[in-house]
Amino acid sequence: MLNFDFHNPTHIVFGKGRVADLATLVPAAAKVLILVGGASAEKTGTLAEVRAALGERQHATFSGIEPNPSYETSMKAVAQIRAGGFDFLLAVGGGSVIDAVKFIAAAVHFEGEDAWAILEKRGRNITQAVPFGAVLTLPATGSEMNNGGVITHRGKGAKLAFSSVHTYPVFSVLDPTKTYTLPPQQLANGVVDAFVHTVEQYLTYPVNAPVQDRFAEGILQTLIEIGPRLLTAPEPVYDDRANLMWAATMALNGLIGAGVPQDWATHMIGHELTALHNIDHARTLAIVLPALLNERRVPKRAKLLQFGERVWGITTGTDDERITAAIERTRAFFESMGIATRLSGYGLGADTIDTVVAQLEAHGMVQLGEQREVTPAVSRRILEAAL
Ligand code: NZQ
Ligand code: ZN
Repeated sequence: MLNFDFHNPTHIVFGKGRVADLATLVPAAAKVLILVGGASAEKTGTLAEVRAALGERQHATFSGIEPNPSYETSMKAVAQIRAGGFDFLLAVGGGSVIDAVKFIAAAVHFEGEDAWAILEKRGRNITQAVPFGAVLTLPATGSEMNNGGVITHRGKGAKLAFSSVHTYPVFSVLDPTKTYTLPPQQLANGVVDAFVHTVEQYLTYPVNAPVQDRFAEGILQTLIEIGPRLLTAPEPVYDDRANLMWAATMALNGLIGAGVPQDWATHMIGHELTALHNIDHARTLAIVLPALLNERRVPKRAKLLQFGERVWGITTGTDDERITAAIERTRAFFESMGIATRLSGYGLGADTIDTVVAQLEAHGMVQLGEQREVTPAVSRRILEAAL
């Protein structure tokens, strides 16, 4: 096992009816800015619940954080916070709202000329942030219990990630009933995003870390078990929603990634596809991952065989046949969730590949993966295989 630090300070408040706990979770004297996305938080009644739980506290609302949140919109929130003297932020939404709030919380105190520098330095230049909590309405990203965020600069066409010890939520409320209003494509996105987060930290090379491996395999098996049921159930089933929510949180809160090598090449290539073509985050991962696993089947060999056997129950055939079967089962699982796994499924052809590779180079994404061997030439082969 590799050396590691593990410290996750986010207080998780899980279960039905827990939004009411904001009454005690938010500091009594706080001046609160609630931040939401489009119309969903208002339409579903969650925003009204949040306001009621805040009671007498002074509060206002900033709305309009878009999916794949932008730097441009985030800076409007920064201006409102500075002007209004808000000292506690409350994100109500999915990964986009929570990510934006992390960036906003850091940008309020950023002393440089332009807070986009936070993304350019991947968050290393964050020295403090306004404290914030979250009410999660879409299980997928794990943003509710990690310190990372992904922000898009619309002007520059760049989607970059940052992280900092200062950008963990103080608390996150995880009420599985808040997922009942999600459309099927967002549920499918959640399952696939959580699946790929797990794979990015598990499917590398062995370092004799059986606890992390078995946690990861448990998350993957849970997603495979509940994923299709989430789409076919005539009415939402509480336990399936609760298990999705906790699986997605556990997939990216640092636990399964502690002490093991991590890949993340699928995410970095996927971010470029979203920035260029506005494809949902999870869908970009479903395009890249099967092709990447096939391209990297030699360095990932031992873990691909373990994944095939323990997650998919593949125990017969030559090693190569088993690896191919494991990759194809993964692709079929994404497709069964209604998510296309090829660029052509999104109307894209070979002509986009040059641009994606050029953007990877422009963003310094030239040595990706657990072995740092995914160069632009390798990314190109992966994208060609994903056509
Ligand atoms: O904007 P509103 O109206 O709220 O609608 C949202 C949005 O259109 C809607 N929605 C959310 N909760 C709902 C709901 N609709 C009905 N009922 C509800 N309860 O769903 C749509 C998508 O929301 P979004 O927050 O964009 O989705 P997601 O949670 O998948 O977040 C995606 C973003 O997270 C980043 C992605 O890159 C992307 O920008 N990621 C963040 C990570 C992290 N912080 O660790 C890791 C991930 O790999 C990922 O990169
Ligand atoms: Zn993701």
